[in-house]
Amino acid sequence: MTHTPVQFPEGFLWGASTAAHQIEGNNTNSDWWVKEHSTGTNIQEPSLDACDSYHRWDEDMDLLASLGFTDYRFSVEWARIEPAEGHFSRAELAHYRRMVEGAVARGLRPMITLHHFTVPQWFEARGGWTAEGAVELFARYVSACAPVIASDVSHVCTINEPNMIAVMAGLAKRGEIGFPPAGLPFPDEDTTVAVVAAHHAAVKEVRAIDPSIKVGWTVANQVYQAEPGAEAVTAAYRQPREDVFIEASRGDDWIGVQSYTRTKIGADGPIPAPADVERTLTQWEYYPSAVGHALRHTAELVGPEVALIVTENGIATDDDARRSDYYAGALNEVAAGLEDGLNIQGYLAWSALDNYEWGSFKPTFGLIAVDLETFERTARDSAKWLGSLGRTRELPRLAD
Ligand code: BGC
Repeated sequence: MTHTPVQFPEGFLWGASTAAHQIEGNNTNSDWWVKEHSTGTNIQEPSLDACDSYHRWDEDMDLLASLGFTDYRFSVEWARIEPAEGHFSRAELAHYRRMVEGAVARGLRPMITLHHFTVPQWFEARGGWTAEGAVELFARYVSACAPVIASDVSHVCTINEPNMIAVMAGLAKRGEIGFPPAGLPFPDEDTTVAVVAAHHAAVKEVRAIDPSIKVGWTVANQVYQAEPGAEAVTAAYRQPREDVFIEASRGDDWIGVQSYTRTKIGADGPIPAPADVERTLTQWEYYPSAVGHALRHTAELVGPEVALIVTENGIATDDDARRSDYYAGALNEVAAGLEDGLNIQGYLAWSALDNYEWGSFKPTFGLIAVDLETFERTARDSAKWLGSLGRTRELPRLAD
């Protein structure tokens, strides 16, 4: 049985997301650039030119707009805007301002992420997020972004996936490399406190720039699913890795819900997915329903006042038909959530482009393929289909 499509609510965001370091190329002043050229990491290859989007952002936007998308989430790079502590680059601020205006001129509403995993080298060298004064330094940077976001920007994300920042800090502190086969390493608690404080400070700065900007942050949802009897274990496992960050968004205008797969939890903790499940190129279980669970869990914690926006969702695959299938399954979940009255205000896929997946170009998440030698962009069929839904303003509601 098929159901009638669900109409997008008024103002619903329909787009795709990227992050500066993953697409711009030559982000040489960032902490990641240093890591990529260091030994003793699990980084397989450096980002180098990435997709050269620093110079080709107009092509990216032309394509997204022509596909039918109405929104584009991209990030501005702190390491470029504040290359040395206290020195702000007018040229880089003007660069990002041109991007904002370029998006608007093409009919794309820009959602701006102020921090997506990378920090300037000088910030890392002085001790990163847990060093004294880190929160104030971030707040000052946010305030310096005023020329970029003060007009034409309806949504600002302060920090992308603070929970992953704390998880990575936990790994680094313990001198560990790589993730366990299931679940996430324990986050560094000092980093958790610091990024929550940085977010709250940043929200104030953004509202001071323009109180009409809708501000929030995005959280990585692992979709923890309790095996029978393991409900309490699951809740305890999830709290420091996810819930503490979701709860910190109370009082924000919206929260970004980002999910890709699920993690089952038994009495002894995370259970690796069985060997025979379908896996994506990141080795995650193919699980399009993840987004529905993530939306419902987030709504339970933040209540109806904080809008939910899917700010990332997708898969790395070399089979684009699987990508389309994944999005169809995911949208079914979003439509069901809307029908159930969840305050969902947008859906932005990850990712607009094949890009640098934090250590390797191999996991291809892109709706748009990128030739890493010529930088030629080619929209995949999944992009054409997903983009076209922006024109109909309808979400498919597929058979259950
Ligand atoms: C991040 C992206 C990343 C994606 C896929 C999220 O954790 O925000 O930067 O590429 O997931 O791993």
